[in-house]
Amino acid sequence: MTTTTLPGASLIADLRPEARNAPESGIVEVVNHGRLKQGLIPLWVGEGDLPTPDFIARAANKSLADGETFYTWQRGIPELREALARYHTTLYGQPFSSDRFFVTGSGMQSVQIAVRMIAGPGDELVIPTPAWPNFAAAIGIAGAKAVCVPMDLEHGRFNLDLGKLAAAITPRTRALVINSPANPTGWTATKAEMGALLALARKHGIWIIADEIYARFVYDGSPRAASFHDVMEPEDRVLFVQTFSKNWAMTGWRIGWIEAPAALGQVIENLIQYSTSGSPVFVQRAAIAALEEGEPFVAQQIARAAEGRKIISEGLLATNRVSLAAPDGAFYQFFSVDGRSDSRALAIELVDKANVGLAPGTAFGPGGETGLRLCFARKASDLVEVVARLQTALAAR
Ligand SMILES: Cc1ncc(COP(=O)(O)O)c(C=O)c1O
Repeated sequence: MTTTTLPGASLIADLRPEARNAPESGIVEVVNHGRLKQGLIPLWVGEGDLPTPDFIARAANKSLADGETFYTWQRGIPELREALARYHTTLYGQPFSSDRFFVTGSGMQSVQIAVRMIAGPGDELVIPTPAWPNFAAAIGIAGAKAVCVPMDLEHGRFNLDLGKLAAAITPRTRALVINSPANPTGWTATKAEMGALLALARKHGIWIIADEIYARFVYDGSPRAASFHDVMEPEDRVLFVQTFSKNWAMTGWRIGWIEAPAALGQVIENLIQYSTSGSPVFVQRAAIAALEEGEPFVAQQIARAAEGRKIISEGLLATNRVSLAAPDGAFYQFFSVDGRSDSRALAIELVDKANVGLAPGTAFGPGGETGLRLCFARKASDLVEVVARLQTALAAR
């Protein structure tokens, strides 16, 4: 007997639409295409090539050796919350209390909890795009709707039109999702733009989900990007989603934090309880080491990224085949190849012909379709080689 039904299709049909319709990652499709290619230089995912520094791993090892293998505080161990408060106090030049900090199992879990707290079916969250796809996916899984506002693109530089953003706000809007510096575009809000975004949110009584995870990666010599911290009051409706992944090369450790008004503490604790029930203590000990001893490593990573940014932006411009502006922040170069609008096909082609792995702009929502994202948090010699390979591949077309 022939059947037109795929095995398992009826099981899938019987799931909640929020789960069933969660999108596959458009980046993973290209990664799967090139994963096994010999000699491929992978710049498609958002992480550097340095392993976690030893002093961080040692703190985790010590904790395990000390027998810290039990259930723990849902909000995070007090020592880590204190360390987070000190780190913020230094970085933002204003006092922070540890009761604003909640340790999570990653930046991604922070996003998921932040969305869960404020949005459900019928609600809308407004996101400037191109954007990291996981925001829209987390919103969809919560049953809410991501309303994308494509940023304006001129000569490869992205610009957020606040009028367009304001026009996207409806009575159903619950939050703005603001990622600055942004993945994948490198767009970085000025302090004035942060002030205007906050004023807009206050005017409509809506939340801001602030993703400032790339704040340390800026290239104008300042110690950090402008932040909502520069313009807000502690009780403003701003939920910061944060992570140890990027600054301290800890993508595989899965640890992040939420910073929020202390009044939300019990709610956040409950949501952590009913998802991960807390982050492993040994990982939290590693996170404390990162915060307390990690500044030289962070500085090294930023210097490396600055060199990578220069190699990539100058090298790509020299091909005379691309449109781009060197990014103000984060560690991605977003660019488009003249005459090529199908970034998915182009990313596959560059895997095959140049042996270089890039993320297709189609993965990042409206406004990104024609672009490619290249992560330049990698050793200079690889990036020089990538430029050479792309130059050959683009010239041969
Ligand atoms: C903008 C942005 N936010 C949050 C994250 C989450 O990082 P993680 O889940 O590794 O902590 C990422 C990861 O790429 C990101 O690019």
